Parts: sequence; C-alpha cells; structure tokens
Amino acid sequence: MEHVTIVTGAASGIGRAAAELFAERGSRVIAVDLKAPTWVDGEQVIGLAGDMSDEGCCRDMVAAATVTFGRLDAAILNAGIAGSRPWADPDAVDYFDRVVAVNLRGVALGIREAAPAIAASGGGAIVATASTSGFGGDPNNWAYNASKAGVINLIRGAAIDFGVKGVRINAVAPGPVETGMTEGLTAHPKVHDAMRRRIVLQRWGQPKELAEAMWFLASPAASFITGVTLPVDGGLSASAGHFDLPEA
Ligand SMILES: NC(=O)c1ccc[n+]([C@@H]2O[C@H](COP(=O)([O-])OP(=O)(O)OC[C@H]3O[C@@H](n4cnc5c(N)ncnc54)[C@H](O)[C@@H]3O)[C@@H](O)[C@H]2O)c1
Repeated sequence: MEHVTIVTGAASGIGRAAAELFAERGSRVIAVDLKAPTWVDGEQVIGLAGDMSDEGCCRDMVAAATVTFGRLDAAILNAGIAGSRPWADPDAVDYFDRVVAVNLRGVALGIREAAPAIAASGGGAIVATASTSGFGGDPNNWAYNASKAGVINLIRGAAIDFGVKGVRINAVAPGPVETGMTEGLTAHPKVHDAMRRRIVLQRWGQPKELAEAMWFLASPAASFITGVTLPVDGGLSASAGHFDLPEA
C-alpha cells in the first residue's frame, strides 16, 4: 500500500532532508514551502507553494495528499522562522505575531487539517519541529522561545485528542543545526565555535540527523510513543549549563 507524507518547510534545511529521506524510503511526499520546492521530481515528491500560517494552505496540502494519492499517513510540520528582536524594536510586536503565526499557529492549523485525514486513512503520525529554544530562553529571542515552548505543549494536547483516533503526535527539539536558518551564526567562526562548545557531542547537528529522528517518530517503531518532544541536540539540553563541558 502507498505511504504518503506531508513535509512543510521542505525547500531547505531540515525539511528538505526529511522530504528526501521519506521519499528515499518509499513514501510519496507532498513538499510544502512558501515557494514550491524546486528540487522535487514531481512524481515521488510533489512540490506545493503555501504559507503554513494560512488555513487555506493547510487544507490544500492535505487535499493534495488525499486527492492525488487517496490517503495521508504522516505529516512533518516543520516550517519555521527565527531571528531575534530587542523588546524595544519598533516592529517587535509585528515580529512576535509573525513568529507565533508561523511556528505555533502553523503547527496547530497543520494538525487540525492533517490529523482527521490521517485517522481516516487508518492511523499514522504527526511530527512537529520544536526547538531546544522551547526548553529555555535565549537573548532577544523571546518570540521564538515562546513559539517553540508553545509547540511542546500543543502537541501534548493534540496527542490526547487524536490518540484514540489512531494518530500519534510528537515533536523533535533540534539543537544547533547547520541550515539556511543558522547561516548568520555559522558564518562567524567565533559564534559557531562558542555554540559548539555548549553541545555535549562538541559539534553542530546536520539536517539528516533530524530527518532520521522524524522518520523514527513517524514509523511503527515508535508505535507506543505519543505526546513527547524528543531532543535531537547532541546533548545540549542534558547539561545544566553550570560548568564548561569536557572538550575532545
Ligand atoms: N537550524 C537550527 O539550528 C534549528 C534549531 C532548532 C529548531 N529549528 C527548527 O527547525 C525547523 C526547520 O528549520 P531549518 O533550520 O531547516 O531552517 P531553514 O530556514 O533552512 O528551513 C525552513 C523552511 O521553512 C520555510 N518556511 C518559513 N516560513 C514558512 C511558512 N509560513 N510556510 C511554509 N514554509 C515556511 C522556509 O522558506 C524554509 O524553506 C524550523 O521550525 C526551525 O525553527 C532549527
């Protein structure tokens, strides 16, 4: 039987790696991003343009799965935006609204549309992308911190509501991963290295390592796991942060 997955934020970084991995392992993928991803082949992976903060986009992506392939088995709700803002910045309130609209509302709308379709296909899983920035705070990152903390509790509530319908709902919490989102940080060797030193494994993560965790949580191997956020962070969240970590 065909296996069908929606991946949002699939044009780059973690979303692209997830879409590629799921396709490689035999799933048909609807790859959603603000501009339809150009790397898709139009057969195994179909590109769709849309803004995840918009209900219409969430309806369209689910329809793309159910109309084109007749079913939906998994949704990887990964689209997100980052960037810090001082509280006093003139556009701070608009910025907060946009970050929450994409990172939190986008996941809520995605679950609202995808979960019933997955249930109607006999059950499956949703994986959202939270962040270690949802476990604690970062300087001037209050909007992002709030949006990602929201995802962590959103998926608990959603897991309760859709569990009996056969839909497991979990999240991954990436630590620092080298993607388009973090280019501004990785371009500065000092910043890149300072962040590396806070990670137990003493290196940044790669998009594929997140894709593998998403694959696991979406797969039958995780059949008794729902409502959890799995840190995929090289141990960043394992440290209380009081002491410098051992270096290799
Ligand atoms: N890279 C990291 O270090 C890191 C750490 C923690 C969490 N995350 C989270 O991982 C997820 C993926 O980020 P990434 O690092 O791959 O970044 P990325 O910028 O490479 O990819 C994010 C993708 O989401 C898309 N997107 C943004 N807003 C959208 C919208 N409204 N609708 C549809 N698509 C939209 C972008 O166009 C982009 O292609 C995000 O939710 C991000 O917050 C990333």
